[in-house]
Amino acid sequence: MACEPSAGLPFDPASAPPSVPAGGAEPGNPTGVQGVSLPGPVSDGASQSAPAAGQGAVIHSPVRPDFFDDVGAEGTLRAAGSKRGILVGAAVGMQALMTDPHYRKLLAEQFSYVTPENRMKWGLVQPNPTTWSLGQADEIVAQAEAAGQRVKGHALVWHRELPWWVDEDTEPEVLRAALEAHVRKMVSHYRGRIHAWDVVNDAVDWTGAMRPSLLLDKLGPGYVADAFHWAHSEDPDALLIYNDYAMCWLNEKADGVLSMLTDLVNSGVPIHGVGFQMHVDVRNLPRPMKLQQNWQRFAALGLRINVSELDIPMAEEKEATIEQDLQLQKQAFRNVFRVCVETPACDSVTTWGVTDRYTWVTGFEGHDGPLLFTKDYEPKPAFYGAMQALVDEDTSEWYAWP
Ligand code: XIL
Repeated sequence: MACEPSAGLPFDPASAPPSVPAGGAEPGNPTGVQGVSLPGPVSDGASQSAPAAGQGAVIHSPVRPDFFDDVGAEGTLRAAGSKRGILVGAAVGMQALMTDPHYRKLLAEQFSYVTPENRMKWGLVQPNPTTWSLGQADEIVAQAEAAGQRVKGHALVWHRELPWWVDEDTEPEVLRAALEAHVRKMVSHYRGRIHAWDVVNDAVDWTGAMRPSLLLDKLGPGYVADAFHWAHSEDPDALLIYNDYAMCWLNEKADGVLSMLTDLVNSGVPIHGVGFQMHVDVRNLPRPMKLQQNWQRFAALGLRINVSELDIPMAEEKEATIEQDLQLQKQAFRNVFRVCVETPACDSVTTWGVTDRYTWVTGFEGHDGPLLFTKDYEPKPAFYGAMQALVDEDTSEWYAWP
């Protein structure tokens, strides 16, 4: 069966959410491309018996009840993940959360873990040195708790999205005091309510050295260990994570992060895990065995593995058809979820968004977006791939990769 664009929304257009506004702090799809809406559950192995959207009665729910019947009792990512001891998370955009009931429903039904996509970043929570603005972050945490989800705080220390009042003219001791106050404020404010914090984000560059940044220039490399100590002293029960990108391959950057984390662990710094962001094009993913081999080096330090920001865009190969791309994307999601299942240290997989309606990824040029659900909230082949990885007992195929 093909994946032709459907004739319309698979639910009552009268209840359709507002279109995504351009720009803003929580960008939706900045391309404005009206993506492909899939005709209901994509024909795909176990799901073939499901009727296409548009057949029969008007469907008011963006996620059809029959879809869940089709995949059985474990029909949601959160339920299937929980059987494996894996949290399945999503980054949450404030604007979608506040304005889109379909988004909220999908988030609550499918995911067991929530990361605020932006609302806990320093530049947003401390608009000036004496003012804190935590209302929106509080709202995300409250909604997650109401949905029985855990929350990952993101990201305490990052060289990007710093407050405007921190710059190259800031004296080192002023910056250090401000950073410490920020970390302590965030962690104490949410004490007992945050499962894990991304304490330090992106501190290493492509060569594996510490990334040149304002933080490194002014504070020296010790800021990384300091941040973990500050966070731990405010909430000793929270899991503390180092989070970074472009290190899922066995490359220089991964080696550099491994060496930095080895030093931290050996010096008794309270660090409990490492987050692999994995914003990776579908044609550039590491082979599953290599990914696992890489993760195992970090697990050997006693660290948990998080897949912390997974999205898999796929528009590089212009000749590929949408069907081919969607199948490739399905395999890619399946493999990442499967490597997590097969790696005892891997405790969570978080996708960087919920639906292709709202994603920070740009430029997918007509092919569908990087996440598990379409702009119309329908499960994509990638969703089935993730489910397959979580549910299947048969592992004979999971490492197959073109
Ligand atoms: C991104 C958000 O998704 C965007 O909305 C925002 O404009 C920029 O930041 N690595 C991270 C995340 O750790 O915080 C980034 O999130 C994506 C890359």
